[in-house]
Amino acid sequence: MTGFLVGFAVAVVVCGFIWLWQGRRRQAFWQYVTDALRAIASGNYQIHVYGVGGDADHPVVKSINDMTRVIQQHVGELSQERDVLQHILHSMTTGVVYIAGGGRVQMVNEAAERMFRKPAERWLDREHWGVFGHYHLSAAIDNALLFGTTWQSELKLRDDLTVEARLIVIQSVRRRTSGDSGYDALVLLTDVSEWRRLERMRSEFVANVSHELKTPIASIRGFAETLLDEDVDELTQHSFLQTIYDESLRMSNLVSDLLELSKLEGTDRDLHPGRVRLPDVIEGALHRLQNQASRREIELIADPCDDLTVWGDQDKLLQVVLNLVSNAIYYTPEGGQIRIRYDVLIDRVKVHVTDTGIGIPPEHIERVFERFYRVDRDRSRASGGTGLGLAIVKHIIGAHGGEVGVSSEPGRGSDFWFTLSRLEGSLQEVNS
Ligand SMILES: Nc1ncnc2c1ncn2[C@@H]1O[C@H](COP(=O)(O)OP(=O)(O)OP(=O)(O)O)[C@@H](O)[C@H]1O
Ligand SMILES: [Mg+2]
Repeated sequence: MTGFLVGFAVAVVVCGFIWLWQGRRRQAFWQYVTDALRAIASGNYQIHVYGVGGDADHPVVKSINDMTRVIQQHVGELSQERDVLQHILHSMTTGVVYIAGGGRVQMVNEAAERMFRKPAERWLDREHWGVFGHYHLSAAIDNALLFGTTWQSELKLRDDLTVEARLIVIQSVRRRTSGDSGYDALVLLTDVSEWRRLERMRSEFVANVSHELKTPIASIRGFAETLLDEDVDELTQHSFLQTIYDESLRMSNLVSDLLELSKLEGTDRDLHPGRVRLPDVIEGALHRLQNQASRREIELIADPCDDLTVWGDQDKLLQVVLNLVSNAIYYTPEGGQIRIRYDVLIDRVKVHVTDTGIGIPPEHIERVFERFYRVDRDRSRASGGTGLGLAIVKHIIGAHGGEVGVSSEPGRGSDFWFTLSRLEGSLQEVNS
């Protein structure tokens, strides 16, 4: 009996120890689990729970590890998405500025930094009034933040920069969660300077063309009316008809020059380049203009250029030389001299048309290649000129990848030049 009691007591003590030991282990396990969950809650998703002793396979341990793996995966995907969005935002040409409800800038992309010439450090977490420096824009942002009012307007930031600013209102992220009303604002800035410049150019162009057409049309109408209404003698009639003919010729020249220019400016440049012998072009032009020059006792000289071959469209290059030499003839007094010479460079040739004419005053020199620009309008108009000749020259040479320029001294003469790509060897060498 005593043996049984001793055995029983030992069994109770052993069970008590086992129970105590298991209780400790359970406590340690749950403590471990609680610590792991706390770490996860504080944002440490890298954690992996191994369990205590034989608890590694405990369903709770497995669930925690599954959970951290899924969270890690989601966080990874989100940060990848954020990187892509950041990349898109910074490579956009539209300026983007994000302003939180409090009026401080939270985000700015590179386009906006460039437009306002301010690095990101001078934007972030600063009051928008201090960074934009534009009263209307900042007032509109305040309205957007307070009342959710959108806004759109064109702003001239600098002489060469006009932007279209658009305000987008977003319900404030922070206040949305706290149930408050309030807004954040997104400012989108699109550079429209080039559009405005083109619009201005187009309207100037239309005004110029209308102006150029008005004079010959008015004169044709006036003379035709006189011929219809009044009895005029044959001699006067002939002179009126001659004027009508001359003016119509002028209009037709203007229209064909305009068509030529628009072709050169368009995508279909109508250019047929190939190997061109420069002497063919120069001789062709001088041959056509020789009479005109002789009438005014102007000497035309061309330096020899036998072996010069260029890459270009022969007809268009002929037109370039014709325009330059006919200008030189017109703007050189009788007895003057016009000379064509060449600077042969490694892969290019620079062709000069120099004259001993009236020259161009320095304040006009920058603009003579512009459409319709004439130094002396009356003088040029008397020649039937429309001020398109040099614009055509510039476009043709530009389409060939070359450059044009002029240096001039009033009263002494001008030197108009253009460059072309030079080709080695003669035509025969290539053909054989
Ligand atoms: N060789 C030159 N010497 C002095 N002035 C020149 C010379 N060439 C051009 N110019 C000036 O540049 C202006 C523009 O020349 P451009 O050839 O474009 O027009 P234009 O000769 O007046 O008319 P168009 O060539 O259309 O008949 C001329 O009006 C003239 O004032
Ligand atoms: Mg001309």
